[in-house]
Amino acid sequence: MRDIRISVTDRCNFRCIYCMPKEVFGRDHAFLPRDEILSFEEITRLVRIAAGHGVTKVRLTGGEPLLRKGIVDLVSMIGDVPTSTGGALDIALTTNGSTLARFAVALKDAGLSRVTVSLDSPDDATFQAMNDVRFPVAEVLRGIEAAQEAGLGPIKVNMVVKRGMNDRDILPMARLFRGTPHIVRFIEFMDVGATNGWRLDDVVPSAEVLRVIDATHPLVALESSSPGETANRWAYADGAGEIGVISSVTQPFCRTCSRARVSVDGKLYTCLFGTRGHDLRALMRDGCTDDELSSALADIWRNRSDRYSETRTTAVRVEQRVDRVEMSYIGG
Ligand code: GTP
Ligand code: 5AD
Ligand code: SF4
Repeated sequence: MRDIRISVTDRCNFRCIYCMPKEVFGRDHAFLPRDEILSFEEITRLVRIAAGHGVTKVRLTGGEPLLRKGIVDLVSMIGDVPTSTGGALDIALTTNGSTLARFAVALKDAGLSRVTVSLDSPDDATFQAMNDVRFPVAEVLRGIEAAQEAGLGPIKVNMVVKRGMNDRDILPMARLFRGTPHIVRFIEFMDVGATNGWRLDDVVPSAEVLRVIDATHPLVALESSSPGETANRWAYADGAGEIGVISSVTQPFCRTCSRARVSVDGKLYTCLFGTRGHDLRALMRDGCTDDELSSALADIWRNRSDRYSETRTTAVRVEQRVDRVEMSYIGG
């Protein structure tokens, strides 16, 4: 376990078609009440225990994490937790960028190391069709620039590529960020959760993404920067920067996965495609000691056997197809 990813809210102001489709997350959708989600103290405690087990990276996700009230205070509480060797944690946050311009400086001051911004198209009409709340692309671009100026780089920009939706934007997206320090990552559309209507036909394989870009802007492969990395890294041959592809459908990376996931209500999942989490909130609220919590974490991790992405096409267990937790709950 090297990386802990914590969903801090199940709410989002976007309704991205592949993540929180409007038909499922409509006006009457019931989000979790306040007392069911982890408090800042509970989150910080979990981070401290995980750091004791060698975790060095913390990622805050959602829903949209910047919608969680007091998020800046949470970042500074986590920032006070040392790694097991006494160093500083790498604290990152994955955001839709909609309010990033407003938060960037405060987040940096609180100790955030960097941000990843989701952006599915540089084309305003396509972007609005994908976020499904008519949010303009210019505002997200403004957020990215503000984050860069605040020192939250290198910024990664995540683009989920869906066939027939935004696949014609691959090259324009690459071009928009070519020559900047930002790293675009093209992500294969995944079957997370059970509501996004995933079909294999909608997946644009990373090999195709690379072919499209390489034909105009030649690419050279880079070494991965850490063993459990999600993305394969590529550089422009002319030195104009770096891109990445995340190929969890066509080239699963379960084998090196070192990511523990905590859902918004404090369940620990050992896989993004999990169907059942381990209730750490109950343990904490029942008054367990730090030692007990630490052993529980170690036991869960030692006993994990997940490798969903490797078995996806042969998944026989029905619950793995219908009961998977939603991305907005587990955080991606
Ligand atoms: P860095 O530490 O900056 O490299 O971040 P990251 O790539 O771990 O994080 P990010 O939140 O940007 O995730 C990028 C994409 O990879 C998202 O679509 C995630 O859902 C996906 N992803 C992250 N971890 C896993 C995983 O364990 N399995 C699968 N299949 N996909 C993952
Ligand atoms: N497939 C691939 N990526 C997804 N994300 C959300 N849902 C999916 C999906 N079904 C991405 C978001 C965000 C990251 C955390 O996960 O765009 O960048
Ligand atoms: Fe991701 Fe699950 Fe595969 Fe690990 S086992 S890489 S968490 S899909």
